[in-house]
Amino acid sequence: MGEPDVSFFGCDGEDDKTSADYYFDSYSHFGIHEEMLKDVVRTKTYQNVIYRNKFLFQNKVVLSMGAGTGILSLFCAKAGAAHVYAVECSHMADMAKQIVETNGLPDGEVDDGVMLPDEASLYLTAIEDAEYKDDKIEFWSNVYGFDMSCIKKQAMMEPLVDTVDQKQIVTNCHLLKTMDISKMVPGDASFTAPFKLIAERDDYIHAFVVYFDVSFTKCHKLMGFSTGPRSRPTHWKQTVLYLEDVLTICEGETIIGSMTVFPEKEKHIRCMYFINSIQLFSSHVCFILSLMFCAGVREHIYK
Ligand SMILES: C[S@@+](CC[C@H](N)C(=O)[O-])C[C@H]1O[C@@H](n2cnc3c(N)ncnc32)[C@H](O)[C@@H]1O
Repeated sequence: MGEPDVSFFGCDGEDDKTSADYYFDSYSHFGIHEEMLKDVVRTKTYQNVIYRNKFLFQNKVVLSMGAGTGILSLFCAKAGAAHVYAVECSHMADMAKQIVETNGLPDGEVDDGVMLPDEASLYLTAIEDAEYKDDKIEFWSNVYGFDMSCIKKQAMMEPLVDTVDQKQIVTNCHLLKTMDISKMVPGDASFTAPFKLIAERDDYIHAFVVYFDVSFTKCHKLMGFSTGPRSRPTHWKQTVLYLEDVLTICEGETIIGSMTVFPEKEKHIRCMYFINSIQLFSSHVCFILSLMFCAGVREHIYK
């Protein structure tokens, strides 16, 4: 086997800014790459997957789709890949080329592929979050004595990407969908899934929380990580969707509803979550809350 090569491919820009341009601009600055690299849960898992499963990489041709700084390409090259094709659309591609050269890997050509990770699951849970909701939403009702509540609506529409304390979780965590990434085709990232959340204690519910797990099922031993509130925090944090009305819930009561998720291209956001409607079933009475709740998430998902 000769020296592993790493080839870089960039993308041509267009005159008018599209949502793709906004997306790629966000990856042109080193700051986001620093955040991802310093996310030890994420980066160490990838490193362990690659270094401990060399049989997946040795003498193989690897395609690193969205190479960023080239870190995963370097891992693969070090694990014995015959060639790594690194594709990067942001200006970070120039840096990645330099990084590969600095680290003694020639810039060459690449042919075959390995899909890592190959499975992703999206989960939903519900939390008590009175204090933070007050701070982020109610805040606009009285700002130094002035009513700025028109901003409240916007703040409600834009879910918060932040770390949720696991003590805030009121219900079980419901698996919305598992995706076999290696078999996904365009359109598969859009779906509607029913959910059933059962309260684990008497409490109030202020928000739904969405997060994902990823798995590397082709490894010798199953590997992966979770971005959920019960796991070590990652740079993805969690996505919090506030409800306009507070729900009062008792242990054993259920919230049944459905959620629609789809990529949003027009508004320069990556993903839309719609809670279509929810029903809260208590042992005494059945409240039917028909909430039309819509939310977009800026800068989230699948880093
Ligand atoms: C989440 S980052 C991951 C970077 C790197 N793989 C790492 O693990 O640190 C995703 C990268 O993919 C790039 N990217 C996303 N979609 C792409 C596409 N269709 N073609 C090329 N690059 C893409 C982004 O610019 C970004 O740098």
